[in-house]
Amino acid sequence: MKKSRVAAFVGTPIVAVLIGLTLMQMTASADKAKKPNKRAVARTRKTVKMLDDVYKTAVVLITTHYVNDEEDLAAGVAAKALFAAIKEKGWHEVKLLDVSGQPYNDENVAEDAFDKKAVKEIKAGKAFVEEVISKDGKPYLRAATSIPVVLDKCIMCHENYKTAKKGEAIGLLSYTIPIE
Ligand code: HEC
Repeated sequence: MKKSRVAAFVGTPIVAVLIGLTLMQMTASADKAKKPNKRAVARTRKTVKMLDDVYKTAVVLITTHYVNDEEDLAAGVAAKALFAAIKEKGWHEVKLLDVSGQPYNDENVAEDAFDKKAVKEIKAGKAFVEEVISKDGKPYLRAATSIPVVLDKCIMCHENYKTAKKGEAIGLLSYTIPIE
């Protein structure tokens, strides 16, 4: 056998094994990204619940103290501006979405698969929906929390909320937060 043939004969299986090992490692790291540590997921879930309470408390306080007629800056508008700033700074992503089927702003409707599923489940009465996802090899928690008609004032601008039953969700907050 010529020297080059011998090299090819020995080299090919080695290259194949190396490719195989690299692929296995890649799948393993993708799996790892898909299945983050349970305690890290629990910590992230707690962060979502804390943020959710902070955001909703702020919206209720703003609406109670500053929003007196339809011309005033709605807490929903302020919240969206806050969420855009938080996203730009790279902290996390949070969206204010409609569940009622009659949004004030057509932009605020579920678009991706998780949000669409969350709208259905929250409409059906769930208060919290979550899913662990992998984005660019990193794990994230997607979570949605329900928004009921918390104040009579909400109806001032959202007429369709009048027909909502007590505690029924008319909206949701959708979070995408890194699991660290
Ligand atoms: C002063 C008028 C006003 C009041 C009061 C008000 N909203 Fe809104 N709301 C808006 C406007 C305007 C938007 C659209 C914001 C945007 O997309 O920039 C909005 C958007 C929303 C959305 C996103 C879906 C959609 O309809 O576009 C939800 C959910 C929501 N409001 C819930 C509430 C709740 C709950 C209350 C009571 C705590 C409330 N709003 C009070 C004006 C109001």
